[in-house]
Amino acid sequence: MSRNEVVLRCPVLEDGAAVFDLVDTCKPLDLNSHYMYLLQCSHFSSTCVVASQYGQVVAWASGYILPQHPDTFFVWQVAVGEAVRGQGLAKRLINWVLAQQRGIQKIHTSITPDNAASWALFKSLARDWGGDLSSWDWFEQQSHFGGRHCTEVLVEIVLPTQGVQQ
Ligand SMILES: CC(C)(COP(=O)(O)OP(=O)(O)OC[C@H]1O[C@@H](n2cnc3c(N)ncnc32)[C@H](O)[C@@H]1OP(=O)(O)O)[C@@H](O)C(=O)NCCC(=O)NCCS
Repeated sequence: MSRNEVVLRCPVLEDGAAVFDLVDTCKPLDLNSHYMYLLQCSHFSSTCVVASQYGQVVAWASGYILPQHPDTFFVWQVAVGEAVRGQGLAKRLINWVLAQQRGIQKIHTSITPDNAASWALFKSLARDWGGDLSSWDWFEQQSHFGGRHCTEVLVEIVLPTQGVQQ
């Protein structure tokens, strides 16, 4: 392994604080509590991924399988540190974490209308996979966030029946 290689793995509890610090630098992501990242690094570790380089956490993606829909994987946050952006790492994280799952037919995520990078990422993944992307308003600015957050659009990618073309 070369020294600058970016290595992907499931997170452990000891990653929680570094994940918090990374997300804190990745605007416009909402920063959640330390406690929440510790839950993701433990109970949800198998559906999350950290990327490390020189022993430091440089990127993170979190997700879970919908409790009522075991064929649907929800991608929660994707955070790639500025120094390692533009190298396909976000796509690599999502493909890696999906490769650890079985029986996934749909990918869900939510994106605010103005997050161009996130839209580009998921459109690019849908293209790579040969999946159909659709979207609709989900958590609404007024009725759900009480005006304190802009509307989150639910993005669904239906994967082709023969599996993803990674
Ligand atoms: C969004 C983010 C995760 C992208 O990480 P990355 O590793 O640089 O992304 P990739 O290199 O894998 O690029 C994936 C695709 O998105 C596109 N893309 C990435 N950043 C972009 C940007 N700022 N503007 C427009 N397109 C962008 C790339 O061109 C690529 O598309 P292509 O495959 O058609 O060429 C990263 O910029 C980030 O962490 N941003 C802050 C947090 C955030 O907004 N997260 C939401 C993501 S769900």
